[in-house]
Amino acid sequence: MTKIVILTGAGISAESGLGTFRDIDGLWSRYDLDEVATPEGFARNPALVHEFYNARRRNAAEAIPNAAHAALARLEAARPGEVLIITQNIDDLHERAGSRNVLHMHGQLTRACCAACGHGWSAPAELHADTPCPACAAQATRPDIVWFGEFPYHMEEIWAAIRAAELFVAIGTSGSVYPAAAFVQDARRAGAHTLELNLEPSQTVSDFTEARHGRASAIVPAWVAELLGA
Ligand code: NAD
Ligand code: APR
Repeated sequence: MTKIVILTGAGISAESGLGTFRDIDGLWSRYDLDEVATPEGFARNPALVHEFYNARRRNAAEAIPNAAHAALARLEAARPGEVLIITQNIDDLHERAGSRNVLHMHGQLTRACCAACGHGWSAPAELHADTPCPACAAQATRPDIVWFGEFPYHMEEIWAAIRAAELFVAIGTSGSVYPAAAFVQDARRAGAHTLELNLEPSQTVSDFTEARHGRASAIVPAWVAELLGA
C-alpha cells in the first residue's frame, strides 16, 4: 500500500549535471520549447527534435545519480511497498540509484515510439526520424517523451496513489507544469501531510503544509534519515 508519494522534477538531477528547465541558463532559455517539446515542432523538423533528445540522452548516460537519488532508493528499500516515485524527469537516475517503483509521467529518454502506429520500445541508443518501427516498419520514430499539449503517462495509477497517500513530497520541481503542479492540492484533499524540498520556494509552495529549501543532495538525505529515525 503506497503511503509515501514522491514527485520529482529536474532539480533532483541538477547536481548530477543535468540542466533544469527554468533556472538561470535553463534549457528553455537556450532552446525554443515550441520547436523541441511540442508535437507541432516535431512535425515541422523531426531531425532537430531528435538532435535535442540525442544530446540529452548522451548527457543522461554520462550523469551519475547523486545523494538525493540514493536517499530515495534507501527509503524504498527500508519501507518495501510503501514508496512510489512519480517523476517528471526523462532521465533514468532514479533507477540507476536503485529505486524500483518509479513512474515516468513525461516519458523516458531510453524509449522510443512510432508516430504512425503508437508502438513503444526500449531504445537506449540514438534515435533518428528514419529509424524503422519494429512493429509496422514505418519511418516515423519519435522520442517516447510527453510534449506540451499531450497527455501524461500513468495518470490513473498516479491519481489512485495520491488518493491513498499519507505523505506527499515534491522534490526539485518549480510547480509550473500541470497536472503535476496540482498533485499537492489533491494530496492535501486526501488528508496527506505535504512537504516541499526544493532549492527555493516553488510557484506552489503555499499549497504545502511544510517546506524545506536547499540543495537536494543535502536536504533529501537529511529528510530520509529523519523519517527512518537514523
Ligand atoms: P502546461 O500548461 O502543463 O505547462 C506549461 C508550462 O510550461 C507553463 O506554466 C510554463 O511554465 C511552461 N512554458 C510554456 N511555454 C513555455 C516557454 N515557451 N518557455 C518556457 N516555459 C514555458 O503545458 P501543457 O501544454 O498543458 O502540457 C500538457 C502536458 O504536457 C502536461 O500535463 C505535461 O505532463 C506534458 N508536458 C511534457 C513536457 C515534456 O517536455 N516532457 C513539457 C511540458 C508539458
Ligand atoms: N536542489 C533542489 N532543487 C533544485 C536544485 C537543486 N540542486 N536546482 C534547481 N532546483 C529547483 C529549482 O529551484 C526549480 O524550482 O528545481 C526546480 C526546477 O524547475 P524546472 O526547471 O521548471 O523543472 P521541472 O519543475 O521539472 O519542470 C517540469 O516542465 O518543460 C517541462 O517536461 C518538462 O518535466 C518538465 C516540466
